[in-house]
Amino acid sequence: MTDLTVENLSVVYGQAIAALDDVTMTVSEGRMTALMGANGAGKSTVLKAISGVLEFERGRISTGRVTFGGQQLNDIPVHRRSRMGVAHVREGRHILSNMTVEENLDVAGFAAPPRSKAETARIADRIYGYFPVLGERRRGTAGYLSGGEQQMLAIGRAIAAEPRVMLVDEASLGLAPMIAEQIFEILGRINADTGLTILIVEQNVGLALRYAEYVYVLENGRVALEGTRDTIGTREEISARYLGGDTTLTEMA
Ligand SMILES: Nc1ncnc2c1ncn2[C@@H]1O[C@H](COP(=O)(O)OP(=O)(O)OP(=O)(O)O)[C@@H](O)[C@H]1O
Ligand SMILES: [Mg+2]
Repeated sequence: MTDLTVENLSVVYGQAIAALDDVTMTVSEGRMTALMGANGAGKSTVLKAISGVLEFERGRISTGRVTFGGQQLNDIPVHRRSRMGVAHVREGRHILSNMTVEENLDVAGFAAPPRSKAETARIADRIYGYFPVLGERRRGTAGYLSGGEQQMLAIGRAIAAEPRVMLVDEASLGLAPMIAEQIFEILGRINADTGLTILIVEQNVGLALRYAEYVYVLENGRVALEGTRDTIGTREEISARYLGGDTTLTEMA
């Protein structure tokens, strides 16, 4: 199995700031898994440790390990992890604003092994199939897309590299509820159609419980709760206990 695991992982930033403390998680192959928790709980840090971008932020793994398909990733540089099939959609819609939608996808595809023109077109068509609005605007400048469309493009860019596992950080942030739901619906469809393993970081408990089969909740850098969608508890319980009971985060559901 090409599971992704995080085993007894502790991460520090700089010399002192402990962001994760003994975190153990399994992201099973072909499954959609969610990681929840309040602001500052360490969610993004988990994704950064998996993709390797941690090193660009003076972060480091102090103990524990990340593995993918049984292979330890700790000391493997970011570009090699992406070649191995680990894609990271970072928080905040990272796209190339001055380029067209099409160019954004082309450039993202360079992270994958070299491919023919026909192959590149086939992959772009698949992405436009999932996100028709990107197809309609393929020759438009990415910076002029709406927030939701830019998030779709950021996800499309990850898919262009044909990953085996995709990490998605707060895809719903700042989006209208309907658009957030649409993006999750598409992620669910990609997962169901292609078996792509997906780990989503999400603060909207309703969304996470609707689309992820297995859920982890972080609190102060530790796993406070985990379980399947059906056994982990209700939206209200999780929200009240671990997300400060902020109803704005769950209203959308
Ligand atoms: N580059 C960094 N340098 C120093 N400390 C950092 C850095 N990034 C994160 N931290 C600290 O690590 C802890 C975990 O941060 P992280 O970004 O992983 O949380 P998060 O759960 O993603 O929060 P949010 O919901 O706000 O995105 C926080 O205390 C944060 O201040
Ligand atoms: Mg974060």
